[in-house]
Amino acid sequence: MNSFVMTLNRHILEQERLYPQATGAFTNLLIDIALAAKAISHEVNKAGLLDIFGAVGTQNVFGESQQKLDVMANDAMIKALNFSGTLCTMASEENEDLIPIAEEFPKGKYICCFDPLDGSSNIDVNVSIGTIFSIFRRVTHEDQPVSLQDVLQPGYSQVCAGYVIYGSSTMLVYTTGAGVYGFTLDPDYGSFILSHPKIKIPSKGKIYSVNEGNYYKWDEGVRNYVNWAKQYGGPDGAPMTGRYIGSLVADFHRNLLKGGVFLYPADSKNKNGKLRLMYEANPLAFIVEQAGGKASNGTQRILDIQPQELHQRTPLIIGSKEDVEIAEQFVQGKRTE
Ligand code: AHG
Ligand code: MN
Ligand code: MN
Repeated sequence: MNSFVMTLNRHILEQERLYPQATGAFTNLLIDIALAAKAISHEVNKAGLLDIFGAVGTQNVFGESQQKLDVMANDAMIKALNFSGTLCTMASEENEDLIPIAEEFPKGKYICCFDPLDGSSNIDVNVSIGTIFSIFRRVTHEDQPVSLQDVLQPGYSQVCAGYVIYGSSTMLVYTTGAGVYGFTLDPDYGSFILSHPKIKIPSKGKIYSVNEGNYYKWDEGVRNYVNWAKQYGGPDGAPMTGRYIGSLVADFHRNLLKGGVFLYPADSKNKNGKLRLMYEANPLAFIVEQAGGKASNGTQRILDIQPQELHQRTPLIIGSKEDVEIAEQFVQGKRTE
């Protein structure tokens, strides 16, 4: 490693110096999430072998024998977050209820909601998948038992949000409200190295991402937008390019760097859309706004939605500010072409 590289650990400590409200506990939490990400990345890269040869007899960092990846990823996140001693509870897409912190570990004032493995349908076809996390501070006093009231906070209360994308390289992207930073895992050293400082999403892009297989289940406004986008939605009125990977993290990450808009609208089958508010839409909405973009459910800013239940779904339109605003006009019927 050359003389000075900005590792994730160094960056978090620097952020902590710059932003006094971030405390040491916060630093430990992010470092432990990065540990889980390394463990998951290690296993994801062997997924094909697992499928062919079943369990390969290895153990992950927490001493458990190899398991089905989305369960393994969930276990890795839960174990790492327990070790961090910074949380009073956690919530996972894979667990119906809140996950209590194991008795033997100290508790803290933070809450983490996470999607341990996003895009799991893509695991066995070797397509990029990810992990998404969202961090809040508890709102009840520490001598009170932690409750859903502590967790069901609107997205604008997040203190940190991030995702890991397991692709051609493993990257961790996060924000604490002072910009968006991307780190690439150097497998030789096992360190996340700052590769994308201060990410900004282009104000307008030429990519639209949506599962057009749902076309005949969409409301008219969504259909009108997609028809317009593929004819005139790009820069200078040219057609937009369609790109859809089927892993939210991968579709989002590409649009964050190149510009464009991702939509998972409500439809006649999924009345509230498919994606979850607490650990898919909220964290990515925090990140995209910090990068200068926008995220809405078609009529309301994602970060302003007051959650009613832990696993509630929301329609999602997210990406370049101008593209999202045009899509909102169509969805709201203010525009038909
Ligand atoms: P998860 O694997 O965590 O359940 O998430 C899958 C989500 C998201 O990653 C992706 O954007 C969406 O499902 C794709 O859904 P469709 O296959 O219905 O397009
Ligand atoms: Mn997901
Ligand atoms: Mn998932």
